[in-house]
Amino acid sequence: MDEMIEWRREFPILDKTVYLISHSLGAMPRKTRDRMMEYSDVWSTRGIRAWEEGWWEMPSTVGDLVGRIIGAGSGEVVMHQNVSIAQSTITSCFNWSKQPNKVVTEALNFTTNLYICHGLEKLGATISVVRSEDGMTTPTSQMLKAIDRDTRLVVVSHVAFLSSSVQDLKAITDRAHEVGAMVVVDLYQSAGTLPVDVRELGIDFATGGSVKWLCGGPGAGYLYVRRELWNQLEPTLTGWMAHEEPFSFEEGAIRYASTGYRFLNGTPNIPGMYAARSGYEIINQIGVGNIRRKSMAQTEKLIQLAEEAGFKVNSPRDPAARGGTVVIDVPEADRVTKELLRRDFLVDFRPRAGIRISPHFYTKDEELELIVREIKKIVDARASL
Ligand SMILES: Cc1ncc(COP(=O)(O)O)c(C=O)c1O
Repeated sequence: MDEMIEWRREFPILDKTVYLISHSLGAMPRKTRDRMMEYSDVWSTRGIRAWEEGWWEMPSTVGDLVGRIIGAGSGEVVMHQNVSIAQSTITSCFNWSKQPNKVVTEALNFTTNLYICHGLEKLGATISVVRSEDGMTTPTSQMLKAIDRDTRLVVVSHVAFLSSSVQDLKAITDRAHEVGAMVVVDLYQSAGTLPVDVRELGIDFATGGSVKWLCGGPGAGYLYVRRELWNQLEPTLTGWMAHEEPFSFEEGAIRYASTGYRFLNGTPNIPGMYAARSGYEIINQIGVGNIRRKSMAQTEKLIQLAEEAGFKVNSPRDPAARGGTVVIDVPEADRVTKELLRRDFLVDFRPRAGIRISPHFYTKDEELELIVREIKKIVDARASL
């Protein structure tokens, strides 16, 4: 008996579609509508007083809800608008014209992170990109080999967006710390579907957002910085909210806040944070360990069904090395995806990968059969044209 199925009632879109796209946009919780109403009620009735009555603290109070999901301590997570800003805030903490100034990253990292790393070359950094031989996984041994005494930062994704392969964060973090480097992990494709404990792993920085597995919608990215590092980090991507006393409006260079607010910049996205809360609460209530157990079973089943149908699977076979997504490649996968969308089967297509399919805690087993059957119907119909 799958008790998580009960949660389907809380996600209206599940009644009307086969929703297998939580790696891209998690379903909206019913309660999110009330939270958005709450936001407009507070704004319209409390006006400017809303800042003192909760809005000012939201980057941290909402951040704590994410912190519970990823194992961070209270106040260690602050909310940003997206990963791009959060990663740029981190890289702006370092002087790239000074040794050590090498950045180790992986070709399978999300594009935003790669673009930001390559941007650092203009500031004097050297970038080492570890390639994937199979286009699906990044060999841990190659990552460890690339991390040496010249390395300042190692930037990786916990789960690769193209294939759903999982990085060995423990090995990478241990190696980085051994040579005096710091580790930035993008948790976007793991938090909410794969247990992660940033403190236990000793990760220095983590970033992510709420659009996907956290069912929190756009505009609510997050940044974790290990508390022990706060004093030594001064981001140049900054703003008045990062000041120790923002309302003294001091001239001159910034005096950074002694709290996690030192990693903020300007006015935060208040409506985005209202929208995101319900998703975090639901994930915390169910527990990521329980979500992972179901996810492993359903992704396993999906792979089995795909192989029986004769499709190529571009995600790792070992359940422990795989995140919440199964990538299936078929002829003309982009066109097949468009037809699936038209038929209310919500999945997506990525070049060099295939059709990304993601069961989440609200997925019924029969939906796995439905999607594979539908792909087969479309592929067979196109082949006979
Ligand atoms: C691993 C990963 N990081 C980051 C992002 C998005 O970055 P941003 O929040 O800057 O839009 C995505 C997907 O959209 C992703 O899969």
